[in-house]
Amino acid sequence: MAVVPAAGRGLRLGEVVPKAFVRLAGKTLLHRAVDLFEAAGGVGLVVLVVPAEMLDEVTEEFGEHAVVVAGGVERTHSVRIGLEAALASAPAPQYVLVHDAARALTPPQLVRDVVAALHDGAEAVVPVLPLTDTVKTVGSDGVVTGTPDRSTLRAVQTPQGFRVGVLRSAHAGELVATDDAGLVERIGVAVQTIVGDPLAFKITGPLDLRLAQMLLAQP
Ligand code: CTP
Ligand code: MG
Repeated sequence: MAVVPAAGRGLRLGEVVPKAFVRLAGKTLLHRAVDLFEAAGGVGLVVLVVPAEMLDEVTEEFGEHAVVVAGGVERTHSVRIGLEAALASAPAPQYVLVHDAARALTPPQLVRDVVAALHDGAEAVVPVLPLTDTVKTVGSDGVVTGTPDRSTLRAVQTPQGFRVGVLRSAHAGELVATDDAGLVERIGVAVQTIVGDPLAFKITGPLDLRLAQMLLAQP
């Protein structure tokens, strides 16, 4: 099963509608997430976590293919709500994937790669890519305090995959993190990395949306 956090406002993107309802080549980011799991195959139940005011509209459009619930204040809350809904509606599967609607160009193969790593025995799996920029730590005074060794750093994508019990335990702590693997790390479970895909980039700001539009416009 898969939980799709899509309840954010998209403040950095700055469009009039919440980000998951922005259209790319005529299709919303949310619709693209539904299509992704359909194309990947074998995922089973999909839970869409959307802004409360979109609940009726999304239920009407996708209610036959997915469970639709209203999200929370932070992404972590939205995933927690989605996970609870998934567990309430499905005979408990072994694995759960969590995937940002904002990563609208994610190839189906990446979903299959995450699932394969779970089948191979990983308890938690994240797709990652090496960083291309040097990263600095900076103090509140704006002065650089250090330069972490870039070779040990990775940028993390979704879908992230977990054994259901692992994600459940990680979310039981009521903590907040920017991704689900961050919660899993805190309960001491090893998080396996696999090679990510540049196309799974997150549409965050206007430049990302432009890039996605251009990629889709190519023959
Ligand atoms: N998300 C969510 N619930 C929230 C916040 C975010 O389900 N309370 C989802 C977003 O819809 C998105 C994913 O988490 O699919 C990644 O978050 P982000 O890229 O930060 O999206 P937004 O929070 O919508 O954007 P912004 O932070 O610019 O407002
Ligand atoms: Mg956000």
